[in-house]
Amino acid sequence: MSLVIKNGEIITATDRYVADVFVKDGRVEAIGKDLASQGASGDVIDASGQFVFPGFVDPHVHMELPFMGTVSADDFETGTASGIAGGTTCIIDFVIPNRGQSMLEALASWRDKAKKAVADYTFHMAVTGWGDRSAAEMRRVVENEGITSFKVFMAYKGALMVDDGELYQVMQEAAKLGAIVTVHAENGDAVWHLQRELVAKGDLGPEYHPVSRPSSVEGEATNRALMMARLHGTAAYIVHMTCREAVEALVRSKLEGQRCFGETCPQYLLLDDTVFVKPNFEGSSYVMSPPIRPAHMGHHDALWRGLANGLLDSVGTDHCPFTYEQKKMGKDNFTLIPNGAAGVEDRLQLLYTYGVCEGRFDVQRMVALGSTNPARIFGLYPRKGTVAVGSDADLVVYDPSATGTRSAKTHHSRCDRSIFEGFKVRGKPTFVIANGKLQFADGKLRVERGAGRFVARKPAPRVSPGAQQPAATRA
Ligand code: URP
Ligand code: ZN
Ligand code: ZN
Repeated sequence: MSLVIKNGEIITATDRYVADVFVKDGRVEAIGKDLASQGASGDVIDASGQFVFPGFVDPHVHMELPFMGTVSADDFETGTASGIAGGTTCIIDFVIPNRGQSMLEALASWRDKAKKAVADYTFHMAVTGWGDRSAAEMRRVVENEGITSFKVFMAYKGALMVDDGELYQVMQEAAKLGAIVTVHAENGDAVWHLQRELVAKGDLGPEYHPVSRPSSVEGEATNRALMMARLHGTAAYIVHMTCREAVEALVRSKLEGQRCFGETCPQYLLLDDTVFVKPNFEGSSYVMSPPIRPAHMGHHDALWRGLANGLLDSVGTDHCPFTYEQKKMGKDNFTLIPNGAAGVEDRLQLLYTYGVCEGRFDVQRMVALGSTNPARIFGLYPRKGTVAVGSDADLVVYDPSATGTRSAKTHHSRCDRSIFEGFKVRGKPTFVIANGKLQFADGKLRVERGAGRFVARKPAPRVSPGAQQPAATRA
């Protein structure tokens, strides 16, 4: 099976040029001039005047996640289909064992759920506690299961949160394995106290959610996670960064030579905390952790500038949708509102419109942030994250002249709310190819349940702890 995309402007993190792309058996077979005349057995797509991006890689999603007494609304089929419609052809989901549950048992259940995926996927493995078998299981996950990234939650006390001793051990073990640790960085103990104080005062609406999780809580935890990583020479990746204090902590660690990375998400760039006071409990749709931050405190600028100048490395979505009905679980108490929102389909158009068209960064930097860097950081590159001969044929043809509006009425997620409702966008994916097959065309999905494959990864070579510490402390 082969197809050709002709005359598009290929955009990678490093190059931009007009050429044809010849796709065969799921791979990019050739890039050059006049490849359409070589006779593809399948479609010939005319991409004149359009961009050809590598398929976007979303390093942070939660499909069918059991969380806060319910389950996130998209499963692997609807979630990856929604991603395809938005130009995302590969996702990284999180296997999250219950506290005390075996990582391998949880992995089996995630593998089962993911069989429905229409696009490729891989997993980060969350470590939600520490016991006698944890180190051996982490090793098995890396060496036998093709998973080279872990996750710790420093928040969600009493559920997913690890304490400092556990964080220490995860970082230590990951370093031995050449694995990277992704971190949800909020001080869960401080959040727990703040929530109790607010509830005791009768402050129960969604507008108190951000009050219970101020930016200092995130800044402190980000710094702590990075210091723990430094202690062991562990590579660290801070997920969903929202605030100036967190960016400052990351920059300090980068300056010390640590191998560390930062991710933010469109909602933290484009929304502010006024969303929480929407009437009729609509503010609950925006309840996620860390929370959306106030405008006028420098958070948004810190994130945009960080993305532009290389202090931040990637943009994920934290796609974890809950319907309005699900959100109503917390109608009398904001601490019970399931945390999360949809976003896997919105990222590319939002980044193009508000990043590229507004002059914050160029289109190649956008590709780096949404595709190449996540692929590189998590060991998927060059199979994913670029347009090159031999890479997977995951490609997005993007028409920059189109205009549109994001809405829950037209998105493909099961969620009945969009936190980007009414956002104007420029450009749209016109054709999305995943694994060499045309899966989205003329605004319609042509996906096949179960066509997505698990992508196994290999660990990075071990970095000695001393190499990541300031020279003065090295032996
Ligand atoms: O509120 C959020 N972010 N929900 C999903 C779980 C997580 O913390 O990433
Ligand atoms: Zn999180
Ligand atoms: Zn998340």
